[in-house]
Amino acid sequence: MPDSSSASVPSAHEATAEVLKNAALSTESGSSKSSDAADESALEHLNVDSSDDADSALGDMAPVPSTYSATSSIYHYVEENGRTYHKYKEGKYLLPNDEAEMDRLDLQHQLWSITLFEELFLAPVKNLHNILDIGTGTGIWAIEAANKYPSAHVIGSDLSPIQPEYVPPNCHFEVDDVEDEWNYSQKFDLVHGRALVTCFKDPFFVISSALDALNPGGFLEFHDFVIPLRSIDDSLQGTAFQSWQEKTFDAADKLGTSWRNSANYSRYLEEAGFVDVVEKHFQWPINPWAKGARMKTIGAYCQENILRGMEALSMAVLTRGAGMTKEEVMELTAAAKRDVPNRDIHAYVPLIVVYGRKPE
Ligand SMILES: C[S@@+](CC[C@H](N)C(=O)[O-])C[C@H]1O[C@@H](n2cnc3c(N)ncnc32)[C@H](O)[C@@H]1O
Repeated sequence: MPDSSSASVPSAHEATAEVLKNAALSTESGSSKSSDAADESALEHLNVDSSDDADSALGDMAPVPSTYSATSSIYHYVEENGRTYHKYKEGKYLLPNDEAEMDRLDLQHQLWSITLFEELFLAPVKNLHNILDIGTGTGIWAIEAANKYPSAHVIGSDLSPIQPEYVPPNCHFEVDDVEDEWNYSQKFDLVHGRALVTCFKDPFFVISSALDALNPGGFLEFHDFVIPLRSIDDSLQGTAFQSWQEKTFDAADKLGTSWRNSANYSRYLEEAGFVDVVEKHFQWPINPWAKGARMKTIGAYCQENILRGMEALSMAVLTRGAGMTKEEVMELTAAAKRDVPNRDIHAYVPLIVVYGRKPE
């Protein structure tokens, strides 16, 4: 039996191969659902692995590479509490844009790839000529889309110019605030946005802008987290992790950027005028506590992602929004980090994929 203390995350290739052997675990609905429904579906699929051989499904997997991207370091930023943040529209987005965060975003991309069986989107898009990836981050999704669909043109837009310099010829990046008026000269067949729940003051504006920017029959698709993290039992209650997430998400609310809006995406799409709105739910166990090789792989990646992301998520939010000092945030985060690998805490990240079609 492998030593559980040295259990490690597989490389993307190994993980994907492992995952492809296993069945998909998702639920789907054709209309709006509440976040409670997301919770319900999670309960059906996540079972605690109580066997002694809890790590066997992780086998001989390779450790997480320390760097996932070779991105250019030439970008503008402002420094705060040891992290860097975007300069354009300074202060608007609350997570950093430094190398550590870029590496984490690329790791998180692997998690999404495993979750969606390497599909970049789930909407039944026809005639894929123009794609827009809003809040593109390191641009990893946009670059993969450009490689996969060489006859399409892909634009990635973001507040931070942190995308690589050398990209496929059918891909380009722009610095833009997606909450400003959209001025694209062409119409899109797909507008995609991933992990943007922490970004917008007015998600309905973004969704309405996407509707205007699409060709008739085109799709808007979001892949996102449903905040807060939950557990299948009461094992999250009273933990330092629970205290960390409550403080962080409450402080974000106070700063006027609610991080809890993804549960409303389907409703917003329908209210904006999208039709055939589909919502699907997935879960990432926070560590390899859940039964089954697929969930163990996802859990191993997720644990790494959370450990790398906690300070990034909470530093600006708690110092700007809750009056905490850097040291206080570090202390709170350090205590919460100790809970993340604890397999007695049966917590998971609820995920949502929502897409809708612009009427013909
Ligand atoms: C959590 S990252 C996700 C990046 C990418 N979509 C991914 O999944 O890897 C969110 C990104 O949205 C960008 N962002 C936040 N607010 C934005 C806005 N108002 N307009 C454009 N981009 C924004 C941030 O700069 C950041 O790169």
